[in-house]
Parts: sequence; C-alpha cells; structure tokens
Amino acid sequence: MTPDQVRAFFTHHRTVRKYQEFVIPDDHLEVMLYAAQHAPSDATAQMYSLIRITDSLLRGKIAEISHNPHIASASEAFIICADLHRLKQLLEHKGFVYGNIPAVGLHFALGDAVMAGQNLLIAAEMLGYAGCWIGGILSSLPTLADLLELPSGVVPFAGLTIGLSDENPVQRPRLARSSVIHHNSYAELDSTALELALQDMAPISRSGDWSQTLSRYFAVGGSMETREVQMVEYLAQHSFGHVRNLDTLFAQAEAAGMSEVLLRRKLASSVIEAWVDAGHLAFRGEDESATLALEQAIGTIAPL
Ligand SMILES: Cc1cc2nc3c(=O)[nH]c(=O)nc-3n(C[C@H](O)[C@H](O)[C@H](O)COP(=O)(O)O)c2cc1C
Repeated sequence: MTPDQVRAFFTHHRTVRKYQEFVIPDDHLEVMLYAAQHAPSDATAQMYSLIRITDSLLRGKIAEISHNPHIASASEAFIICADLHRLKQLLEHKGFVYGNIPAVGLHFALGDAVMAGQNLLIAAEMLGYAGCWIGGILSSLPTLADLLELPSGVVPFAGLTIGLSDENPVQRPRLARSSVIHHNSYAELDSTALELALQDMAPISRSGDWSQTLSRYFAVGGSMETREVQMVEYLAQHSFGHVRNLDTLFAQAEAAGMSEVLLRRKLASSVIEAWVDAGHLAFRGEDESATLALEQAIGTIAPL
C-alpha cells in the first residue's frame, strides 16, 4: 500500500452504531478472527479471550445492561477480555505456581486484549465493515460477568460490534499532533495549548465545550466513578489478588474488629512488618510491600 492509500483507509474509519441486517460470510469472519489471533502479544502469552455472542437472548441482555442497543442488532458482537485464567492454568498444569503479579499481569493482559480486538476491527474495516468498541459493558460489570460465566482472572475490557453500516456518521475530530506526539521527552501543554486542544475537539460536544463532555465521564461525580467502584471490587475478586490499596486494607482491618494497624520498617532492611491489633489479639505479616505485609496480617484474621 502507498502512504496515500494507508491515509485514505484510516480517514475512512468511523465508529458505527447502526447496522444493516446482514450475515457476515464465514470466510470474512474467519479472516477477522485470524487477524485478532495474529496481533502482537507480550511474551506471546496471548493473555486475552474474545467471547463471540451468538445467542440472541444474551445479546439482548448485554445490549440492555450496557445501554448500547447495537449489541443486539449488529451482525457480530464480541466481548474482548483480558485473560490471566488460561495462563495460570497452563502454568499450574506443569506444576508451576502463578506469580504474585496482579498489576503486571493485568497490564499486559489488557494490552493483549486491546491489540487482538483492534486487529479484528481493522480486518473488518478492510473488508468494508464497520464497528464500535463498547466500554458501556462496564456499567454493569458483575451482571455481565455472571451472564458470561467468567472465571477468576478474566477481566472484560470492552465489547465490539461489527456489521455493515446503516448510517453515515461525520468524522470525529482528533487532538492536534503536537498534543499527543512527543519527541524524546514528555512535553507539558501550556494553557494556550490546552485551550487549543479544547477548541480542536469542540465539535464533538453538543455544547461546543469538550471539557463539559470530559467532565461528565471523568470529573468528580462523573459516570466513571460508578464504574471505578465496580471495577476495583471486580479486580479484587477476579485478578488473582490484591488490587487493594492501603486505605481498603485499613477499612478491612477495622471491619474485622481490629483497633490498630501498625506498619514498621527497619531502615537498614527492606522488609516491612505489619501488625493488626485488637488489644488482646495481634496478627502479624511481613513482606517488602506494605500492602502485601498488611494483607498477610489481615489474612490471618479472616480469609481475604
Ligand atoms: C474503549 C472504547 C470504548 C468505547 N465505548 C463506547 C460505547 O460504550 N458506546 C459507543 O457508542 N461508543 C463507544 N466507543 C466509540 C467512541 O465513542 C469512538 O471511537 C470515538 O467517539 C471516536 O469516533 P470514531 O471512532 O468514529 O473516530 C468506544 C471506543 C473505545 C476505544
């Protein structure tokens, strides 16, 4: 392909939410899945799973809980998941113990999931289809996880619908290149550049003020705060361990009837000692991480 052809391909991209009634031929679907499976992957570990939703009843339920009706009407609908479950199974199958890597595992698994999903979307667009990523599935994460019977270690990233477009959306703007591409070191935007960025993106919001749109999602009181609570809870249960912070652990110690938490590190040593104390009873944990030490101490009171 020439640079002009590549540019034309990406200029043509539109997220589409209204689809024609159409059954995607098997060979097209096959090559989309081939593209997904040939995405780059950290350590080639392929820490992702794509769940293809073919049951129309299930499609309807997911469309409803995610407030994205096209999940029901698109030719294809997938839930793109980070998947550490299979990796853990593979290790355990050969007698290894899965590492204490909740943050790193999740980081790379989400990366793998995004790359596989985006490869699928690009392949679909190359064939003349369009699609839509759907973060809306996170609005009801526990319900979704139940519907899909997700095991521990599988974390949905987003949905993805694919089909033949039945609408002509305008091209969505993007930030100026100078706002997102840095050279050799991170270049902070000054207030003039921030204003320009808001102007560049103004057409995307009905009010003409992109900061209003962003704030509805990401500012204090925005919709992402609801998702945050569910996600933290979900990760605590599903990502093999402790995406817990000290505040959460203090609250947990209190809930277990403890009256005091003590974290201590001898300066010459890298080991942190954690004590949780109920006056007449004390529990101890020890680790190089304060969070893990405290978790250990709390774990001896009641299973985490
Ligand atoms: C991770 C992710 C989640 C998204 N979630 C939704 C969604 O829940 N509903 C929706 O209609 N569009 C969703 N989108 C689509 C974006 O709104 C769209 O990509 C963006 O407005 C840019 O438009 P364009 O893709 O047409 O250039 C999502 C996109 C991404 C990458």
